[in-house]
Amino acid sequence: MASSENKTARTLADLGATQPAQISTLFLEARERFDSDSLSARDESSWKQFRDTWLGRKSGVLTQITDNWLKTATPELKRVVGAALNKLRAHVESQIEERRKAIESGAEESAAARERMDLSLPGVIRPLGSHHLIRQVFQQIEDIFFSIGFSVVEGPEIETPYYNFEALNIPEFHPVRDDMDTFYLDLPKGAPQPLLLRTHTSPMQIRTMEKRQPPVRVIVPGKVYRRDNPDATHSFIFHQVEGLAVDQDITFCDFTGTIEYFVKQFFGAGVKTRFRPSYFPFTEPSVEFDVSCIFCGGSGAAAGGGTCSKCKGSGWIELFGAGMVDPAVYGFVKYDAKKVSGFAFGMGIDRLAMLKYGIDDIQVFFQNDVRFLRQFP
Ligand code: DAH
Repeated sequence: MASSENKTARTLADLGATQPAQISTLFLEARERFDSDSLSARDESSWKQFRDTWLGRKSGVLTQITDNWLKTATPELKRVVGAALNKLRAHVESQIEERRKAIESGAEESAAARERMDLSLPGVIRPLGSHHLIRQVFQQIEDIFFSIGFSVVEGPEIETPYYNFEALNIPEFHPVRDDMDTFYLDLPKGAPQPLLLRTHTSPMQIRTMEKRQPPVRVIVPGKVYRRDNPDATHSFIFHQVEGLAVDQDITFCDFTGTIEYFVKQFFGAGVKTRFRPSYFPFTEPSVEFDVSCIFCGGSGAAAGGGTCSKCKGSGWIELFGAGMVDPAVYGFVKYDAKKVSGFAFGMGIDRLAMLKYGIDDIQVFFQNDVRFLRQFP
């Protein structure tokens, strides 16, 4: 027997349907086919296909039935076919609409289920960070100097040669410039002046004195840059804290007293200190400041015998440069060198942190390896 699908494509005469009972059977088959088809309409796209199969204007099943069964029916059967077709059409249309509603509300339900907030889930736990060791050491140093009346100033990392060198009494062909292999910026032709990454925080001495009249008591924490090759003690970027105190009657005693106070606060009261003569163009006299070796307690001997590798047996560790401000520098900032005096110092923070925390490679400060950072919460 031909399937009901084929039947709607054929005329009643072709199907040999001449009795009302046969018509009823044909419509019953069509309805059964529709009902089983409707099960396939499970989402929007299969529903559309299902709708078009049945209601499509050109070749939908109902159109086929109209064309092949109703229009070709003998006058006696037309009424029966017409009535059965109307019943089928009503069923088809109402069921298709039912399916649409079911699919729509199903989609809404599952969207609602997707969006529902589950308050029993634990929240996102973000690990708390901590300050980098360099930042912590900056803060320790700042606190010590705050306690004796200093304040913090900060300045540009891109400097002019005037502030980085000339105004610090380092003229263009002075040999100390060779110690500070410098990063100059690649500027467009016709730029008014060369620019460089500051090689030290000392330019802020000049910028501060240009802006303020004595008394001046500032420290300058910041990053500095030199064209150094990286190794355990060198990095092309590192950190300094500059210090400057200028007033009417600051003496060498104020200078040594301040520095010693700082070092004992920072490393502990047990350390011994010493000053050695040195040279910087912007201080006169200049000193190099040493502390007794933190590792061997100043004995020069390693704990397990032999010489201490940190101070190479000398018992002393060089900490930083300092001195009384050279009167020539006051000339650049229009201070009266006959009336004012002061001292300055510039310490390497990475070095201080390495000594205080027993770190033997400066590179760890820049690698941001959490295994290192976690040790200094
Ligand atoms: N600016 C010097 C440097 O980076 C360090 C220094 C030495 C700074 C003596 C000072 C100072 O203020 O008085 O090598």
